[in-house]
Amino acid sequence: MALVKMKELLLQAKEENRAVGAFSVGNLEMVKGAVKAAEDLNTPVILQIAEVRLPHSPLALMGPMMVEAAKKSSVPIAVHLDHGKSLEVLSQALAYGFTSIMMDGSTLPFEENIEMTLQAVDLAKKYGATVEAELGLVGGSEDGKTDEGIRCTNPQDAKVFLERTGVDALAVAIGNAHGNYPVAPRLAFDVLEAIDKITSVPLVLHGGTGITPEDFRKAISLGIRKINIATASFDSLTREAINYLDREGKHDYFGLNEAMVKGVYDNVTQHIRIFNCAEPL
Ligand code: 13P
Repeated sequence: MALVKMKELLLQAKEENRAVGAFSVGNLEMVKGAVKAAEDLNTPVILQIAEVRLPHSPLALMGPMMVEAAKKSSVPIAVHLDHGKSLEVLSQALAYGFTSIMMDGSTLPFEENIEMTLQAVDLAKKYGATVEAELGLVGGSEDGKTDEGIRCTNPQDAKVFLERTGVDALAVAIGNAHGNYPVAPRLAFDVLEAIDKITSVPLVLHGGTGITPEDFRKAISLGIRKINIATASFDSLTREAINYLDREGKHDYFGLNEAMVKGVYDNVTQHIRIFNCAEPL
């Protein structure tokens, strides 16, 4: 059984000076591609799904599949509810066996964010699950439908927030954003360094798609232990499906299924190699 708590993976990554990839999944092919990549590279990963994706990929179907895939995997895998907005959905995820939840109160005023996060901490306690929160504003949104702008995390606020909530991981805003960046982002590493100095809590980098390998490595050297990748996997899956259909000859579902799995596998493999920090870039 390889379903593990996310906190364990993040603390192990800290000891080994690397980060754990948190790969968003939306269907069977994505789960298969991500797990196969993790197994082939013998590296623990996090499988995650965001609350905004649930109308398209229902939790009642995705949840048991993700948990079962983790249990059957030959490497440790944590299953995480990304960008939770409601306690109801967080409770459902925990009941399905998710070992980690994120309460995203980043758009709320500071005190309300703390209040919502404390409720999530309370909920997760019953399951021994890990809790991630967000302070400051990461740009865009998981499904690209809203964008409240970018607001870098204030390091002093982060200190107070972490002391009062006791969360296990903190998503920081350092100029990163969800989705494909229109131009390469310039991450505020000075802000990240200041946050890393005031806490030993593992830090999380959202909006991984489009960040350069060099910037990933620098962020890892400054305390980032979990890196979220969504859009790059969706895009890679779509590209492989198009390539498959463009190829000469007959096509069928099974060939298409394999192409989609390969698309995700390739993207996840490439990111795990960067996050492991074992090979030069
Ligand atoms: P990207 O879609 O930019 O990779 O961001 C993923 C993410 O942060 C999920 O929470």
